[in-house]
Amino acid sequence: MDLNHKVIAIDGPSASGKGTVASRVAAALGFHYLDSGALYRLTALYAQKQHIEWNDETGVTKLAQSLPIVFEGQTVWLDGEDVSEAIRTEAIGMGASAVAQLPQVREALLQRQRDFLTKQGLVGDGRDMGSVIFPNAALKVFLTASAQVRAERRAKQLGSPCEGVAFERILADIEARDEADRRRPVAPLVQLPDAELLDTSEMGIDEAVKKVLDWYGKK
Ligand code: DC
Repeated sequence: MDLNHKVIAIDGPSASGKGTVASRVAAALGFHYLDSGALYRLTALYAQKQHIEWNDETGVTKLAQSLPIVFEGQTVWLDGEDVSEAIRTEAIGMGASAVAQLPQVREALLQRQRDFLTKQGLVGDGRDMGSVIFPNAALKVFLTASAQVRAERRAKQLGSPCEGVAFERILADIEARDEADRRRPVAPLVQLPDAELLDTSEMGIDEAVKKVLDWYGKK
């Protein structure tokens, strides 16, 4: 059965708020929510725990093929351990970006992501939801915000000030990760010609969610 009419693909750079928007849109429609970045984060964390280097394509691919993970509401389990917070650190974000450069790792995670789609419908967020995983999605959104705004949001999440050395570091990390995700040869972060652009630099969550629901309603 073709379920593409029940797929919304939301791609965008780190800390753009796409996770929040995607999960709220999914809840509003009664669709599943796929946080694809979590799969790359879990792969990076698992590699770290198994003492496999993030650039060891063969080693990391083996782990990605058989990730012992369970998603349970907001909780993520890796090999029986609650890693919901451990996968959210900036260091693991960098690790995720590193393992995401490896074509065989992406291949290993591809079917797993498609398997999240059931007749209930799916909202997926990531970097290649619209380009690779669900190229026939009913709606594709490129959700972004300026690097400054994204760094401010990340700083607030971390409870750290929006100025000074620590803030400059957050901003530099965000820019470095964007650069790596945009420049990589496989499944780079791009705004597709058939994706709607949603810039949330000066927009609240409610407005962004409404905009996506409006677009989907018109499909
Ligand atoms: O969205 P996030 O910050 O949780 O993603 C972490 C990293 O994973 C990101 O820097 C790039 C990678 N990623 C990817 O390559 N493809 C996806 N669909 C999702 C994430």
